[in-house]
Amino acid sequence: MTKAVRVHKVGGPEVLTYEDVEVGPPGNGEVRIRQHAVGLNFIDVYFRTGLYKAPGLPFIAGNEAAGEVLAVGPGVTNFHPGDRVAYYYNLGGYASERVIPADKLVKLPDHITYEQGAVLMLKGLTVWYLLHKTFKVEQGHRVLIHAAAGGIGLLACQWARALGAHVIGTVGSKAKADLALANGCDHVILYNEENFVERVKQISRGELCDVVYDGVGKTTFPGSLSCLRPRGLFVSFGNASGPVPPFPLAELNNHGSLFATRPKLNDYVGTRKELLEGADTLFAAVINGKLHVPINHAYALKDAAKAHVDLESRATTGAAILRP
Ligand SMILES: NC(=O)c1ccc[n+]([C@@H]2O[C@H](COP(=O)([O-])OP(=O)(O)OC[C@H]3O[C@@H](n4cnc5c(N)ncnc54)[C@H](OP(=O)(O)O)[C@@H]3O)[C@@H](O)[C@H]2O)c1
Repeated sequence: MTKAVRVHKVGGPEVLTYEDVEVGPPGNGEVRIRQHAVGLNFIDVYFRTGLYKAPGLPFIAGNEAAGEVLAVGPGVTNFHPGDRVAYYYNLGGYASERVIPADKLVKLPDHITYEQGAVLMLKGLTVWYLLHKTFKVEQGHRVLIHAAAGGIGLLACQWARALGAHVIGTVGSKAKADLALANGCDHVILYNEENFVERVKQISRGELCDVVYDGVGKTTFPGSLSCLRPRGLFVSFGNASGPVPPFPLAELNNHGSLFATRPKLNDYVGTRKELLEGADTLFAAVINGKLHVPINHAYALKDAAKAHVDLESRATTGAAILRP
């Protein structure tokens, strides 16, 4: 028996149930791990509420964690008991132990802690692909990053700045503004109080942005389109405030021949080669000091409901972990 947080019916944070579950031995190509830290993500909220459909009920929430290998199944040669590992994978993360395909694991370098590993595999890899693959951020680009003080936000602002971009962030409070400024933002906009489109126009002296990274969704749309220069890229990668409503394709024309994409991590780390490329680049950025990993909250796994309340009520900054 191991402990896990399961969802038996979708709903509010109260549906997160801490209980005993059975974890079997690893099968062919699988590894059983003991998890030392689990990453908290907004996607966990989407699955819990039913905005994103889980394959079935009940399900164990969570998609990223780090821990140590306890046992390997037949055919696994590249991992051994005691190895320190981390992953981004299907639901099943909110647990003390789990069985997972070996090809979804990466080894943690000595200098990366379990806590860091647990928040880098979903959030960090997402920032990696957004800034290097979806749009290649380079010296002199002007980028707008919404929810700049969030888990994705603080990593994205730091890394975009390190790549030479001019970074504009939006945040929900003054305290978050200070944090975003200390983590790579050149300018911060309080988007609940200020008109962020007008502020972006002022800050950029009318030149607008090369790319907008929007994980907020409903409330920042269509303003995000108005922050882009002609032929700029709208990257809609999340729905913290609700999904972007359907809109006529002609809007992209009206706003200056824009490009738009709705990417997801799976499609950027679908192969082993892509996963290792992303993880190697990410870990190197942390080890070289280019990227500081702000883990600002820790909860016991059994308190996952409290963690969800805080995340949804915008009370968290940076990354948060659950401790099994
Ligand atoms: N597509 C992908 O591959 C991918 C992968 C990972 C994450 N994501 C997305 O990235 C986004 C950020 O994820 P995260 O886990 O790092 O979360 P987070 O940014 O730490 O938390 C969400 C933040 O969104 C802002 N927000 C704006 N309106 C909100 C509302 N109505 N309710 C709640 N929050 C609101 C809040 O910041 P302020 O108070 O500053 O407004 C809040 O702190 C999410 O949309 C997530 O789904 C996408």
